[in-house]
Amino acid sequence: MSNDRRAELLGTAQALLEHLQLLLGGRICIPAQNAQNTTPAQRAEMDTSEVPQVPPRKDNRRRLQLDVSTLVPMASIFEQQGDFLAAQSLDELYQCIHTCTKCPLGTMRTNFVFGTGNPSADIVFIGEAPGADEDLKGEPFVGRAGQLLTKILAAINLERSDVYICNILKCRPPNNRTPQPSEIEQCKPYLYKQLSLIEPTFVVALGLTAAETLLGRKLKMSRVRGEWFDFYGARLIITYHPAALLRNPELKRDSWEDVQKLRRAYDEFLRSGVLPEPIGHVE
Ligand code: URA
Repeated sequence: MSNDRRAELLGTAQALLEHLQLLLGGRICIPAQNAQNTTPAQRAEMDTSEVPQVPPRKDNRRRLQLDVSTLVPMASIFEQQGDFLAAQSLDELYQCIHTCTKCPLGTMRTNFVFGTGNPSADIVFIGEAPGADEDLKGEPFVGRAGQLLTKILAAINLERSDVYICNILKCRPPNNRTPQPSEIEQCKPYLYKQLSLIEPTFVVALGLTAAETLLGRKLKMSRVRGEWFDFYGARLIITYHPAALLRNPELKRDSWEDVQKLRRAYDEFLRSGVLPEPIGHVE
């Protein structure tokens, strides 16, 4: 092929790519134009300065961005379930980790409780650990607390299938005791990988165990509930665990305020792409 013909073809391809880029609002990368391969006439034809610029894509998709490999100690990457970090989807992740017995809870469970809901949800709700009903069914929040969570979601116009629901731990602690720090440490990489695949915009920590695990420090519910925190680019809000609302119905009022605040922030985000200002972040 002659040099002129090659230059002509390259010029045409470049022009096509630039038009495509304009159409897509700058969402594709084009290698720098090689001026030596185009004629002045072709460059004039390709000059897009006269073409009205498509405004930048109104990108409402501000989401959690998390490189899990930076959070997981190298040693554990090569232990069992080691390849979970390479999972490209929630299904793949489930396949990698559902036989986990890294901690004793794995040998006691009936079912591994991975999580349910929309795999690309804007909002993820995170509880503490499966209880007896969840262990039997293999699904999070299906017992009494779960039924209350379903009602709370309905009160802000969300169905369970709109959001994603999971827990800090994937296996039930005996007698529903509070998870131990070592159990949380071993299970946390699975949750973080899960979150990095879902890439939510909002995360709701249900109760202090979830909140303290996600923010990495001790917290006082009375100080932090209903406040916004940055969570790897997403916004995290803390509210009472539904089981706490069943034990203390007087907390429902605060919980109602918190979820209304979530709904307003979500609506604002859908409208304008703007997220609430956080008062703190992960430590
Ligand atoms: N409590 C939780 O924290 N998670 C569940 O899945 C059920 C009850």
